Amino acid sequence: MADNRDMSAYWDRTGRVWVEQQELLDRLFAPIAEAVVDRADLRNGEHVLDVGCGAGATTFAAAWRVGPSGRAVGVDISAPLVELARRRAGEAGLEGVTFQLADAQTEAFSPGFDALVSRFGVMFFPDPVEAFVNLRRALKPGGRLAFACWRGPEDNPISEVPLRAAAPFLTELPAFERNAPGRFGFADPDRVRGVLAESGWRDVAIEALDDPTPVSADELLTMSVRVGPLNPILGALDEAAREPIRAAVARALEPYIEKGVARMNSACWLVSAKA
Ligand SMILES: C[S@@+](CC[C@H](N)C(=O)[O-])C[C@H]1O[C@@H](n2cnc3c(N)ncnc32)[C@H](O)[C@@H]1O
Repeated sequence: MADNRDMSAYWDRTGRVWVEQQELLDRLFAPIAEAVVDRADLRNGEHVLDVGCGAGATTFAAAWRVGPSGRAVGVDISAPLVELARRRAGEAGLEGVTFQLADAQTEAFSPGFDALVSRFGVMFFPDPVEAFVNLRRALKPGGRLAFACWRGPEDNPISEVPLRAAAPFLTELPAFERNAPGRFGFADPDRVRGVLAESGWRDVAIEALDDPTPVSADELLTMSVRVGPLNPILGALDEAAREPIRAAVARALEPYIEKGVARMNSACWLVSAKA
């Protein structure tokens, strides 16, 4: 992704998949949202910003912590996800929760937030230092940052199984570049420390967080072919070309399924810092 316009178009497309799979993703990653808001140590009446909020699950978890006298704002660059997040907040009648369609790397947020949280929403910035300088300005001095990002593919082996299974059918696979914007962009904790130090954050702490939420065999296949990096590749193929790839992926996932249930461990970093 060369610039933020590319990123916005990418997330409008990818966001449609997250909208479609919102229920599964929310269930799968609910413990990670809880770990993030716990780490942010949110209190009644505080103002919190959720970066790359997607369909709003972490914003809602934060809203419960800050209560009706607090304020939870979700920001995301993907129009379909922000639309869904707004609809869900309306349906739940949640007060003090709003969503903003914006690029968090450059948006001039109104300052004065007490805390900033994110579940998997901060690894995609083309210029992460610019983004984290910008985000720090949104916080009060001493404000808290807590986010979850993925550890590398070596710690998330199931994430690579579908790609390896599909490889013989494809001429090209998505390149995995360590430290490039993308889901594994913050896999290297030294890089995260470097970005945060360069953008003026202090008291940086990084710890491993593992979330072995069980999923069904069908859900694991959905995650593998609809949500992951295979999705845009398979989406460009017709059904006849897609089917043998889906079948190969399903076969490759079999060893990870026991009695119809897969333990899809999400291996993450839980990162915290102060403005
Ligand atoms: C992996 S999804 C996570 C969504 C959500 N936090 C969740 O856990 O369900 C990453 C999110 O970051 C958003 N995003 C990526 N770059 C962004 C940017 N520059 N500004 C705001 N949001 C961004 C995407 O649109 C997407 O919704």
